[in-house]
Amino acid sequence: MKKILLVDDDKDLSQSLANLFDSDKYHFDFLEDGMEVGNFVREHNEVDLVMLDVNLPSLSGLDVLKQIKQIKDDLPVIIISGFVSTENAIEAMKEGAYEYLTKPFELEKLIETVNKACGFLSHSTSNQISEPQPGGNEIGEIVGKSPEIVEIAKLIGQVANSDAAVLIFGESGTGKELVARAIHRSSRRKNNAFLSVNCAALPETLLESELFGHEKGAFTGAYFKRIGKFEQANNGSLFLDEIGDMSMLTQSKLLRVLQEKELERVGGSETINVDVRIVAATNKSLVQCMKDGSFRVDLFYRLKVVSIFLPPLRERRSDIPILVDHFMNKYAGQMNQSSKKLSKNAMQLLTKYNWPGNVRELENNIHTALVMSKSDLLQPEDFPINSEAGKPVDIDMENIQEDYTDTFKKIIDPVMPNLIINSPGQIYQFMESAFERAIISSCLKHFDGNQVKTAETLGISRNTLRDRISRYEIY
Ligand SMILES: Nc1ncnc2c1ncn2[C@@H]1O[C@H](COP(=O)(O)OP(=O)(O)OP(=O)(O)O)[C@@H](O)[C@H]1O
Ligand SMILES: [Mg+2]
Repeated sequence: MKKILLVDDDKDLSQSLANLFDSDKYHFDFLEDGMEVGNFVREHNEVDLVMLDVNLPSLSGLDVLKQIKQIKDDLPVIIISGFVSTENAIEAMKEGAYEYLTKPFELEKLIETVNKACGFLSHSTSNQISEPQPGGNEIGEIVGKSPEIVEIAKLIGQVANSDAAVLIFGESGTGKELVARAIHRSSRRKNNAFLSVNCAALPETLLESELFGHEKGAFTGAYFKRIGKFEQANNGSLFLDEIGDMSMLTQSKLLRVLQEKELERVGGSETINVDVRIVAATNKSLVQCMKDGSFRVDLFYRLKVVSIFLPPLRERRSDIPILVDHFMNKYAGQMNQSSKKLSKNAMQLLTKYNWPGNVRELENNIHTALVMSKSDLLQPEDFPINSEAGKPVDIDMENIQEDYTDTFKKIIDPVMPNLIINSPGQIYQFMESAFERAIISSCLKHFDGNQVKTAETLGISRNTLRDRISRYEIY
């Protein structure tokens, strides 16, 4: 017989929950107030599992969880929450909860979890003493309530107390940096620095001096000694963004620092000890990079002790409405425009759109709409994504001008707002190669793939044509 203590202020719910379980196998005790749990656990050594509601009178479920863990570290506790909060999920797992479940339950999941927890002997969380938590930390909170986001929050809580390296991957704008910050904020390093380095933004030598520092005179232009981010982040966390773009040489230096926990500044000989937790992120496939030989396998496994995948927004659309609310409040507050609301049609547009730029694109759209709209009710046309993009372009074949400028402009105008949001700094390059590719494919098609005629007609050499065909993978 397994003994379960169920703590919830809703008596009826507790009873009906208990009724779901086989009374030959499970015995339930009930409490309604968090204050009584500590004593109960102390006096009833035979309790096998505690199920705790988060919202309890007088003492919150999370505080009760901490008490229980102090009394009996290996007693499994399932936290039950009436609403999804990623901060609660992180906190619960960090404090050693066995599971974090949200109401309404999926019954199968609930029963399975209880069965597992009861067959559970020793609980393997570390025995770290938790520091007091800053209350109601909403800055940088991960907003969302899809099952995917809840799983991510739980994972953050699980890794928080360790120093394990975490590798975060996901498309651009999915919230990788936000997650990295949340890991730091929930860790014992939270009162020390969280620093971030974008590995794609700097050429090799500068990146090395950014990471490891340099001595005065180490290279031309090194007029002063410089302390690198590793040293500055000592006892804290270092976020290595776009790690997939790091050169092989820098990778080998990084690997050494991670293995030895010590470094020398560029041009220096003194060995400096560093204790830094690494969180890395990439939107590239590192597996592909390893195949190409541009990423070290040993470094990959060093960085990926735990990996977190952030799914694209289009694969967790249930997060869209709550994110929309969040950004509306954020910007409306900043701009003193709290009266602005979203029309039904606008919300429909936002939930249906594909969001190639993910949460960042959504955030930008809401910001723009709040700035641009004249009325208090935001309509679909206030959002950049609702520009003419995707609508067929009406080209007047009869009156095409000699230089084609107007014709091309007609095609580009509607996609420009999206490009500005999603590819700043790359639009020219992006459009130029798209254009080149289009001309060549079109002409090749016209001549049934005949390269001699295509090159001649376009007025380019056959070498150039062959080069472009392979560069753009035109078949
Ligand atoms: N779940 C979320 N809740 C609230 N804000 C979010 C969420 N996800 C992303 N954001 C916001 O979206 C923006 C982009 O997030 P972030 O910079 O973390 O993405 P990223 O994955 O690092 O993108 P990139 O690969 O382009 O660097 C930020 O302003 C961030 O605060
Ligand atoms: Mg980022």
